[in-house]
Amino acid sequence: MRLVTFGVGYVGLVTGTGLSELGHEVLCVDVDAKKVADLNNGAVPIYEPGLGDLIRRNERSGRLIFATDVPAPWDESDMYFVAVGTPPTAEGAADLTAVFAVADAIKRIAKKPALVVVKSTVPVGTCDAVQARLAGSKVSLEVVSNPEFLKEGAAIEDFFRPDRIILGARSDAAREALRTLYSPLQLLGERVVFTDPRSSELIKYASNTMLALRISFMNELSQLCHATNADIHAVRMGMGADSRIGRRFLYAGPGYGGSCFPKDVQALSALGRAHNVPMRLAEAAHEANEAQGEFLASLIERGLGNLKGKTIALWGLAFKPETDDVRESPAIKLANRLLDKGATITGHDPEAADNFEKMLGRPVRITQKNYDALDGAHALIVLTEWRSYRAPNFADIRARLKDSDGSAPLVLDARNIWRASDVTKAGLRYQGIGVRGAVPTAP
Ligand SMILES: NC(=O)c1ccc[n+]([C@@H]2O[C@H](COP(=O)([O-])OP(=O)(O)OC[C@H]3O[C@@H](n4cnc5c(N)ncnc54)[C@H](O)[C@@H]3O)[C@@H](O)[C@H]2O)c1
Repeated sequence: MRLVTFGVGYVGLVTGTGLSELGHEVLCVDVDAKKVADLNNGAVPIYEPGLGDLIRRNERSGRLIFATDVPAPWDESDMYFVAVGTPPTAEGAADLTAVFAVADAIKRIAKKPALVVVKSTVPVGTCDAVQARLAGSKVSLEVVSNPEFLKEGAAIEDFFRPDRIILGARSDAAREALRTLYSPLQLLGERVVFTDPRSSELIKYASNTMLALRISFMNELSQLCHATNADIHAVRMGMGADSRIGRRFLYAGPGYGGSCFPKDVQALSALGRAHNVPMRLAEAAHEANEAQGEFLASLIERGLGNLKGKTIALWGLAFKPETDDVRESPAIKLANRLLDKGATITGHDPEAADNFEKMLGRPVRITQKNYDALDGAHALIVLTEWRSYRAPNFADIRARLKDSDGSAPLVLDARNIWRASDVTKAGLRYQGIGVRGAVPTAP
């Protein structure tokens, strides 16, 4: 098939590249001329494991092309994928400006009947609104909803082995064309769930909000563990052993971040408000997430006392491992809180340091090597569970960190990846999130 994807962000680039790997001819279009030029010069604008190799292979084969517009013969494509951003408005709703701009472009361009496949995360009713916008096109264009579920850091695997493919289509012809498109991804069994566009749109928000709720619930429980001297590891294991609950996504931490959960939880709340159906749990997930960020900062203050003049090292600046995405990253929020209280920040991340500096826009010292971020700092906070942070040399960490007002340096393990005993043995104070033990207090 001949396919066009709009948007070469995390979703569009993975989708376009994956579809070309399956043998289709794909044009990836973006309004960001720099991103397109970088791609045409062999650079990949995002860090996603395995993506660079796939792009190069398919570019060489001639099946994958990047451009800022849609020249012939791509105006006779079979499908147009919409994978542009839907950032939050000031009220928390999804901003659909880019989606509608793409719809208008497709209406102008398309010379052959085609499907318009909306992969962007959009509120219920958006596909219908796009369909209405396409009225009067030169050719028949049917809009289908196909929300994206990739996980950054595992996006290639998720593309080729999806848990499910949600397709909200109205006509048999659209369903058949999409079944054909996705059949190579279903060799292990049926993955497609066919539904209508509105239900499909809601499935995406419902899924992300359910996951966010699990995280927020565990984060609230972690605070209760601190208050009651219970241990979140034990609570998680005990809860997760119930097959109705399951073990995954039950980790307490610094709060959820990234380009999806925060905005999608808020967009679901906004959608509820628009329809007079309060989404109380979505509101609560968001509030608990904000509170967890404050709790994290309070743990540091309890451990270090007044933060004025203190230096704090952050390991892990991306919102999760194996990505360079820092949108809504807990590290950004924490750094802002700590800087506001007069602390100095040093930081390290294997991939996201540049994006972090750009997004934070405040002075921090970024180091190439993770241990160098520790020199002269009073505390180390690990915020992202990159593999390279999992088995550090705690004696080396102790040697580089400074005592704080007569107390040993503080290690705050915001992902609960280290054993407290390994840390304390090296002469450091340890604090996890909801793990047993009193919060270390500054003298
Ligand atoms: N990132 C994820 O993990 C993820 C996962 C699932 C779903 N989603 C959803 O997918 C959508 C895209 O997310 P993303 O993270 O890839 O966004 P992104 O911000 O990384 O990329 C969006 C791209 O769209 C481009 N764009 C904007 N207007 C355009 C236009 N008119 N024509 C062509 N390109 C245009 C931008 O320049 C940008 O490169 C969002 O709705 C998001 O919620 C994202």
